[in-house]
This record gives sequence, structure tokens and C-alpha cells, in this order.
Amino acid sequence: MFETLTPAKPDPILTIMAAFREDKRADKIDVSVGVYKDEAGGTPIVAAVREAELLLHAQQQTKTYLGPLGDVGFNDLMRGLVFGQQADKARIRTAQTPGGCGALRLLADLVAAARPDATVHIPDPTWVNHEPLLASSGLKLKSYSYFDRAGGGVRFDAMVRDLAVAKPGDVVLLHGCCHNPTGADLDMAQWKTIGTLMLDRGLFPLVDLAYQGLGFGLEEDAGPVRHLASIMPEMAVAASCSKNFAVYRDRVGAAFILASSAAAADVAGAKLATIGRGMWSMPPDHGAAAVKIVLEDEGLRANWKAELDGMRERIQMLRANLASELTRLTNSDFSFVTRQTGMFSCLPLTDGQAQRLRDERGVYLLPDGRINVAGLNAQNTAPFAKAFAETR
Ligand SMILES: Cc1ncc(COP(=O)(O)O)c(C=O)c1O
Repeated sequence: MFETLTPAKPDPILTIMAAFREDKRADKIDVSVGVYKDEAGGTPIVAAVREAELLLHAQQQTKTYLGPLGDVGFNDLMRGLVFGQQADKARIRTAQTPGGCGALRLLADLVAAARPDATVHIPDPTWVNHEPLLASSGLKLKSYSYFDRAGGGVRFDAMVRDLAVAKPGDVVLLHGCCHNPTGADLDMAQWKTIGTLMLDRGLFPLVDLAYQGLGFGLEEDAGPVRHLASIMPEMAVAASCSKNFAVYRDRVGAAFILASSAAAADVAGAKLATIGRGMWSMPPDHGAAAVKIVLEDEGLRANWKAELDGMRERIQMLRANLASELTRLTNSDFSFVTRQTGMFSCLPLTDGQAQRLRDERGVYLLPDGRINVAGLNAQNTAPFAKAFAETR
């Protein structure tokens, strides 16, 4: 059986993580891994989530099955968080999923069932896992222009040009906020232009919302999704709680579809349940149950929001420090780092330079120059900037 398999290509992130662990240098710096880190380099459990888990422990009476779409209460609270109170609830259906990845995979299978010939247009670059997740549903993928490597922003005119010739009925994958890996986002005026383009051309938005609250704020980061939901007849959203609730390993997420009518939503929602049943049968519950407690309790919700605001503000402070150090040391303008959002930035570096930073300076980042800004702190920002400036 297994002799027919060829060895899988090593995952670049896992390879870099392993090399970092083995590196004996005391001053080594890790900005490769995509998890939030605090000033001490840890990824703590959010206090409100810990409290919710204690409540869950004390109150939960059963762990019997929930059903393929998960917990209706969790799904409704997540719909509120993502779509707001003004959403047309009658046209939205939700499935609780194992993380944002589960939501993406479920929605990709739904698209493949509904429109097997659709091409999914993905930004260049995009998160490394988008390709395997979407392609495993059998969908064709095509890149559209997105990141301006030299200026650190979005190549908006080129993006519009590429999407304007996409085939009607095709799918456009958009990062709802905090684009991974670049940190470069559309502004609201640009979202409106893209929304109108998709509407006029009959394109279907699939929005990946993995960092709500880490860009400008919970409400602000949902703005693009809410705008699209107000104008599009149909769309889908994959939401993740991994980062904003720091429940990475508990696998908490939600897949949403907005259909053209309540009747169409019923059919598509039932199909989500069938597809989920064939993949994981039921989504894992523990993390989602804790998130539900946080979202429905006013006090815990306020505490969670305050902790999330703290994470975002720390990232913004690190961005400001990094941009000023890089600008000072290189005599080039790195202010784009402060305009980017979320945990990631792509710095202008070649694969070879990223390798030299690892080998010669003990600085671990991804081969495409992606750094996790949250991996920086008061101690290592200046040494990181110095190593970068002397290597490029
Ligand atoms: C852009 C993007 N989408 C989705 C996810 C999904 O995350 P998870 O499945 O851990 O919730 C991630 C996680 O890194 C991400 O960066």
C-alpha cells in the first residue's frame, strides 16, 4: 500500500520552527510562527476564556452529540459578532467548524458541489494553507495581483484589472482583515469598489476572517464583511476564533453562507450539514462552548474585548518601534509597517537573505520575508532591525 506514496514536501514553517528549537544561540529571535505572543514571548490563555472553561466544568451536564452544524447558540452569537445586528438573518446559515481551516474546507466543498467549474481567485501572495485547503475540494485556483512588495501596500489598480476579467460565477477569496502574510489591507473605499465590481460581474465573495479584532477593532474589522453582506445576493465567510480568543488548539470556527432567499439558505445550510457529516461528523465542542459563554456573558465579553484590544495595541506599538528603527538604520522609508494591520508584515528580502538571517544572525522568519510582528518585544526589536539592515 504505502510504497506507492511519494514523500511529502517539508512544510517550510515547521522546518523553521524545528531549526529554531535546536539553535543554541541565546540571542536568537523567532518571528516565524503565526501565533500571538506577549512581551515575555508566551501565548497565554485569555482570562475570560479560562473563566468560561471553569464555568463549563462546573455547569456542563453532558457531552452527548450536538449535530453536524454544532451548537445553535454558538452559531447565533458568532453570526452577531461577524455580521452585526443589522444582517438579514433569514438569509444566513451557520455551521460550527474545527477552526477557520474547517470552515474554509467546508465552504470549498459547498462551492465545488454547487458550481464544480468555478475558479477560486486568490490573492498573490496568500496564506500558504489556502491552496491545499481549496484545491483539495477539486476547485481550480488562479492568483490575482495583490501585494506591492516595494511599497508595502496593495496594488489596487492591478487587482481591479485582474478581477474585472474573472468569469461570472467564479469565486473571489478575500482576507476580511489583517491579510496574511502581508498585513496589507484594502481601505473601506477600496472594499466598496471591489464589492461593486463583484456584484456587477456576478462573482461570489468567499471572505476569510481569521483576525477579527486584531486590525482596528472588532466592529471595524467586520466592516468589509458587513458591507458585502448588505449588497451581495450571495456570499460566504470563514471565521476563526483561534487568534482573537487564543483557542488555537481547541479548533473553533464558523462557516457562514448568505443566500439569495431564506429558502435557498435552507437548502445550502442543509448541504453544509451533509458535507460536514462526511468529513468530521460533528465539530469539536469544548472551545466553542467556552467562546459561547464569553460571548453571552456581558462581563466576560467586556474582559475578553479589553484583552483583545491590548493585543492589538501591543502589535501597533511594536509596528511603530520597528518602522522607526528600520527607517533610521537603512535610510529607507519603512513607514508602511505602521499602516499594515494584524500580526504579519512581508519585509523586502530575498529567500537567500532570509536564509542568511537565520544562519548568521539567529533571526528566524519565513523565506518570503514574512515576519510575525508580535514575536518582537522591547528587548529584541532593535537587534532584529540591526540584523535586517546589515543583511539586506
Ligand atoms: C489567513 C488565515 N485563515 C485561516 C486561518 C485558520 O486558522 P485556524 O484553522 O487555526 O482557525 C489562519 C490561521 O493561521 C489564517 O492565517
